[in-house]
Amino acid sequence: MTIIRAHDYAEMSAKAAELITAQLLLKPDCVLGLATGSTPLGIYDALARKVAAGSLSFARARSINLDEYVGLSASDRQSYAYFMRENLFKKVDFADGANNIPNGVSTDVDAECARYDSLVERLGGIDLQLLGLGPNGHIGFNEPSDAFEPNTHLVELTENTIAANARFFGEGEHQPTRALTIGVRAIMQAKTVLLAVSGEAKANALRGALFGPITPRLPASILQLHPRLFVVADDAAMSAIDR
Ligand code: F6R
Repeated sequence: MTIIRAHDYAEMSAKAAELITAQLLLKPDCVLGLATGSTPLGIYDALARKVAAGSLSFARARSINLDEYVGLSASDRQSYAYFMRENLFKKVDFADGANNIPNGVSTDVDAECARYDSLVERLGGIDLQLLGLGPNGHIGFNEPSDAFEPNTHLVELTENTIAANARFFGEGEHQPTRALTIGVRAIMQAKTVLLAVSGEAKANALRGALFGPITPRLPASILQLHPRLFVVADDAAMSAIDR
């Protein structure tokens, strides 16, 4: 594991963006595993600026997103498909059809999960997987549970996650409580994992993930077994480890 420390969110974003840039330069036709949420916004912004400046291209890359809310279509403003379009895809130069995200409105959830796993396989696996960290230690929407779930699956979000994500939903706006998420196998089989973490609210989860027991009760702890894990974390996120 390599821990790259940053002072604050801006520096964390810049450093994580450099790692993704290096991946694209080394292998322009790579498969990027992408995340949503607050954490990657600065990273996506930095990448978009590089593309605008002509120093980076996604033209040959493909992407696979971690998760999607059940019940939200790609045109719903709260869907992760919408988030990705607004915050990255429309600002960079991916080819048409290069971006993949689970279908949150599929009528056959089992078939959709199987389709997503075979898609990852067909693309040859993930070269670099970008992850945020849930305050409860989730990665993707692999929530704390009794066993690690290897495959893409339907998950009932925990109260902790629903509360943590309520900030994205306006008053009266429906907040889904279920999601489809990639499982830990595709994440652990990624050649490189980049865990980006910012803020005090993640400090305990980060300490447990990196230095606690490996347990499905704190799903990110499985990353300790990954042979090429980069953690980019700011001072606030590192505060529990410092103590
Ligand atoms: C998002 C995802 C989640 C988030 C995590 C942290 O696609 O899979 O695991 O990375 O909930 O979210 P933020 O970055 O909003 O704190």
